[in-house]
Amino acid sequence: MNGKPLRDLIKSHRSIRRFLNKEVPQLIINDLIEHAKWAPSSHNVQSYSIICIRNKHTKEKLAELCGNQVYVKQCPVFFVFIMDFYRHAYLCKKHKFDFEVQETENLLIGAIDTALVAENFLLAARSYGLGGVMIGGIRNEAEEVAKLLKLPKWTLPIVGMCIGYPDQHPRQKPRLVTPAVYHEEYYRLEDLESNLDKYEKITERYYRERTKGKKTDGWGAQMCLYFSNKRREKLTGFIKRQGFDLR
Ligand SMILES: Cc1cc2nc3c(=O)[nH]c(=O)nc-3n(C[C@H](O)[C@H](O)[C@H](O)COP(=O)(O)O)c2cc1C
Repeated sequence: MNGKPLRDLIKSHRSIRRFLNKEVPQLIINDLIEHAKWAPSSHNVQSYSIICIRNKHTKEKLAELCGNQVYVKQCPVFFVFIMDFYRHAYLCKKHKFDFEVQETENLLIGAIDTALVAENFLLAARSYGLGGVMIGGIRNEAEEVAKLLKLPKWTLPIVGMCIGYPDQHPRQKPRLVTPAVYHEEYYRLEDLESNLDKYEKITERYYRERTKGKKTDGWGAQMCLYFSNKRREKLTGFIKRQGFDLR
């Protein structure tokens, strides 16, 4: 097996937020689902569902709920990847078993399963010449999204995804330098500072060039700003109401 084309596909990732006005054939979408399904799954629980949205009004509403992200309504097709334990609840009820899904562990299992399926889906889409971007903004107003998409209990929207034929080819965003993320045998703190400094310079240059000098903050400065704010505070209450007690 020659894995080079797959490695090239993985390594050429960039998020696409502008799309050609060209429909994505349903036959391709069907095939993407068939590939996404092959993600590994914790205990094979397969705790996800995928909702495909082409309806203009639904996309408009979702764009608003995702924090007015225009590409959610402009993309030809939008997907919502749902963490889904409804099927398991249904089976346990039908066969008169207790249904113990409340633990934080199950929330992690479901979120991981769903994320793996979403990444498989995006990679498969890119292999067809499509592009896309994941949309965490789908959790901004998770309860409203759940109402709009008629999500039952024991489900949560985890991530959205805009898909279409790319109308842009942005430069790739530099990733953390390898020694900052890769450790052998044990977690090494020794060179953290110098590695982060290196990455800061790389990303400062990247953003300066990309924005013609408007944005000069590197990754570290952006992360400080990001983590100095609370966000999505309503989510915990909604997660509990959906049946996950986080015990
Ligand atoms: C779980 C997840 C949620 C994301 N949510 C959003 C989002 O709501 N809006 C957006 O424009 N990009 C979103 N992104 C895309 C990231 O901003 C993007 O992947 C990151 O900046 C790296 O850029 P790249 O994908 O072009 O390499 C999300 C990515 C992931 C993995």
